[in-house]
Amino acid sequence: MRLLRKQGHDVRVVMTAAACEFVAPLTFQALSGHAVHSELLDAGQEQAMSHIHLARWADVLLIAPATADMLAKMAHGLADDLLSTLYLAAECPVVVAPAMNQAMWAKAVTQDNIRRLHQHGVRFIGPAAGAQACGEQGLGRMEEPVEICRLLLAQQIPGMLSGVKVVISAGPTREPLDPVRYITNRSSGKMGYALAQAAVAGGAEVVLVSGPVNLSPPVGLAFIQVETALQMYDATLTHCRDADVYIGAAAVADYRPQHIVAHKIKKDGDIASILLEKNPDIIAAVAGLQPKPLVVGFAAETDDLENYAKHKLQAKNLDMIAANWVGKAEGGFESDSNALQVFWPGGQQTLAMTDKHTLATQLLYLIAEKLHEKNPVKNS
Ligand code: CTP
Repeated sequence: MRLLRKQGHDVRVVMTAAACEFVAPLTFQALSGHAVHSELLDAGQEQAMSHIHLARWADVLLIAPATADMLAKMAHGLADDLLSTLYLAAECPVVVAPAMNQAMWAKAVTQDNIRRLHQHGVRFIGPAAGAQACGEQGLGRMEEPVEICRLLLAQQIPGMLSGVKVVISAGPTREPLDPVRYITNRSSGKMGYALAQAAVAGGAEVVLVSGPVNLSPPVGLAFIQVETALQMYDATLTHCRDADVYIGAAAVADYRPQHIVAHKIKKDGDIASILLEKNPDIIAAVAGLQPKPLVVGFAAETDDLENYAKHKLQAKNLDMIAANWVGKAEGGFESDSNALQVFWPGGQQTLAMTDKHTLATQLLYLIAEKLHEKNPVKNS
């Protein structure tokens, strides 16, 4: 509940009678900011939101923990309390995170129910193996909440971007000085690669233009390896001509050495300074294309994040910019996790610190929403 809220989701809680024995509904009311639903026929609650209305309101129904009893009810269409009725009424994806004793999980009748639910399109997260509340060991523990959140978001994405062409640039660029030396930056490429993977999962046709990084290209996309900013410029512009979305996640070197010396520069020479010239701004060039794809930039800042990000959004004619702090203890270039402050003309949203894969999925949600606003027919 807390993790989903932290990631900006609106959550309504339904508790069964057994759940109310473990946790006071007031706890979930306080955490969710909404009244908790527990009765199928409760005049007061029905007024606020009927079970049918609740089923229509949700984008996803997550049952966590899902007991053997609840799975059995769902598998057989029983509807004798609010939660099981909600399941029957739900037209949105239904995800369960089972939790029960290992022997109950392994029991043939439970396994039959699970098979049935799989056939009915119910998605499962877990259970995990390990020590159980009853003192036994085995398969049946509820998956860790952080993992449930991550998989829940990843499962929502299929189809969201089908028919959409997404070009993503990632990693640093290398600007050579001579055959053995270059100027570069600390970008690891992890965010761009996570975005590419999430876009593939969303059904998009993905082109990943990557500078030199220590990552294997995700499967299911067109991969273009480049080294310099000029090479990245050429590859990106070529592929963006018919793209729906461009995400500039690369840390493009702003300058390159004016001359590339053909041989290794010797230390006893008299070169004391390097003359630099400006590289073209790739994202600004993409934003100047006609027709223009939806253009999403990144801004890595060490200070005054909001002002710099908003300035870049406007100056480069972007549709959205995702800003993050770099050079701090947590998050940023080489880290596996990050937090983003996302701005677009007239709006903004904070995506809290999490792993880059979850963050990529969350950012793609926002991008898909913007794409839908821009082009409601193609993406409906
Ligand atoms: N970018 C680009 N081409 C460049 C420089 C930056 O496409 N030559 C893109 C990046 O991929 C990112 C956005 O512009 O999406 C912002 O990059 P950033 O380095 O933060 O901004 P700069 O414009 O380079 O400004 P500064 O270095 O002064 O902060």
